[in-house]
Amino acid sequence: MEVIRTVAGLRERVGALKASGKTIGLVPTMGALHEGHLSLVEKARGENDAVVVSVFVNPTQFNNPDDLRTYPRTEDADRALLEKAGVDFVFIPSVEEVYPEPDTRVFALGPVAEVMEGAMRPGHFNGVAQVVSKLFSMASPTRAYFGEKDFQQIAVIRQMARLEGFDDLEIVACPIKRAADGLALSSRNVRLTPEQRAEAPGIHRVLAESVEFAKNHTLAETRSIVVEEINRLPFMEVEYFEIADPLTMRPLSSWDQEHEIPAVGCVTVYCGDVRLIDNIKYNR
Ligand code: PAF
Repeated sequence: MEVIRTVAGLRERVGALKASGKTIGLVPTMGALHEGHLSLVEKARGENDAVVVSVFVNPTQFNNPDDLRTYPRTEDADRALLEKAGVDFVFIPSVEEVYPEPDTRVFALGPVAEVMEGAMRPGHFNGVAQVVSKLFSMASPTRAYFGEKDFQQIAVIRQMARLEGFDDLEIVACPIKRAADGLALSSRNVRLTPEQRAEAPGIHRVLAESVEFAKNHTLAETRSIVVEEINRLPFMEVEYFEIADPLTMRPLSSWDQEHEIPAVGCVTVYCGDVRLIDNIKYNR
């Protein structure tokens, strides 16, 4: 595995591969890697000739300076995991390398970026669009891989790719990886205390139970029960829970508004001061 720290170095390597007709899978990450990231790498390896993983804690997507400051940074462990996973190139740029000057671009992402995470974290999705569009230009991937834990993020990235004309690039959405007890894997989980970690699987448990509940209850009732049940768990406070159209991310008010693709219930929960995110598909 080769470690690349400059944009010029990355362009040179991927340029040579592409010139010889090879396909490239890109897995963008912010490091602090876990099994969820490794499942993206594995899928990318199976579908491409070469795999590039980027490890970059992108400052422009953090609207809370404390969150940026405390975001886990574990470069040595990340490199070891990626080497073992058979990655060809890991791209670990500095902030100055990615942003030699401030990125002032404002993307017209539209409604998909205005609800839920977009409403709670102003500027967050614009920052994601900035860095992902740069990574797409720098790595010229054939395919790019994202985890469905950040379900809305994928919809936003698809919108950015449409706006920016990344038409030949396939965006691949990969299923959420969970711990054996159901907690969605996240780099933020390491910040949970042992007591909080023991309660956190309750989020997925409540969501999973609500799929059954939804079969004979209204959407509003389903929404309320999820919020109530999660708030009942020790340490937990729901920031938002919406049942949304999986393509537009528009929150739905009744099951009648559903299309062929199942609605998705998206939740954000504060467990102490750790912000956890999860979602579930309503295959009713
Ligand atoms: O999901 C993440 O880890 C980040 O938002 C991403 C896509 C790597 C952009 O910084």
